Amino acid sequence: MSNNKIKLTNITKKFVTSEMETHALRGVDLEINEGDYVSISGPSGCGKSTLLSILGLLDTASDGEYMLAGHDVSNLSVNQRASMRNEHIGFVFQSFNLIDELSVFDNIALPLRYREKALSQEEVKQKVDACLAKVEMTHRAGHKPNQLSGGQQQRVAIARALVNDPAILLVDEPTGNLDSKNGDAVMMMLAELNRQGTTICMVTHDPRYADMAKRKLHLLDGVMADEFKMELAV
Ligand SMILES: Nc1ncnc2c1ncn2[C@@H]1O[C@H](COP(=O)(O)OP(=O)(O)OP(=O)(O)O)[C@@H](O)[C@H]1O
Ligand SMILES: [Mg+2]
Repeated sequence: MSNNKIKLTNITKKFVTSEMETHALRGVDLEINEGDYVSISGPSGCGKSTLLSILGLLDTASDGEYMLAGHDVSNLSVNQRASMRNEHIGFVFQSFNLIDELSVFDNIALPLRYREKALSQEEVKQKVDACLAKVEMTHRAGHKPNQLSGGQQQRVAIARALVNDPAILLVDEPTGNLDSKNGDAVMMMLAELNRQGTTICMVTHDPRYADMAKRKLHLLDGVMADEFKMELAV
């Protein structure tokens, strides 16, 4: 299995604090093939962001197995996870997470600085410029994030996620902070990236946008909805 297939088996996530335990994910099985476009919907608090963070190797599951591109990534060290993430995954956060002190150009260039093999200035510039063009933000390369509109910030966040040419793009509520015109533009961009071969897994509240995915999944209380129905029937 050398391609960028994702396979989760019986993934659970339990958050433990001194006062309580929260079971955010309760046995999720999920397969995402290369080139797929999956949407994940469900009520607030059902575990969507938790699932995406685990998929993006930003967090680890409490139990279960995660296979990514033929590797078991369930129990990697922090550094190994970062390196797998850098190689395979782009992540777009709901709240953009841009760094206000850096220009648009430097925000997009940031993931390139963490590559194992350093790139030359010229290579960095080429990659960043290509991503700026893709999201039509070339004219704002020198701006700071707080000098941009919400839609523009989201486009920069997408460019940053794309700069390492990830095979898999994980997107949390890409339109959550946008009006419908900017939201539609972001969705068109995602559809085009998928057409070009990028695997996409997107969390969204918006049924209209969920419909644009090839596969629509529903999470309910930490369980995939189909399995949830089966559980209730038992
Ligand atoms: N760090 C944490 N510590 C404790 N509980 C947490 C933590 N992160 C998430 N949770 C809990 O896990 C559950 C799932 O949270 P998650 O953020 O995945 O929901 P979500 O489906 O993304 O919701 P929303 O649509 O509101 O973004 C919630 O009940 C939340 O309170
Ligand atoms: Mg969330």
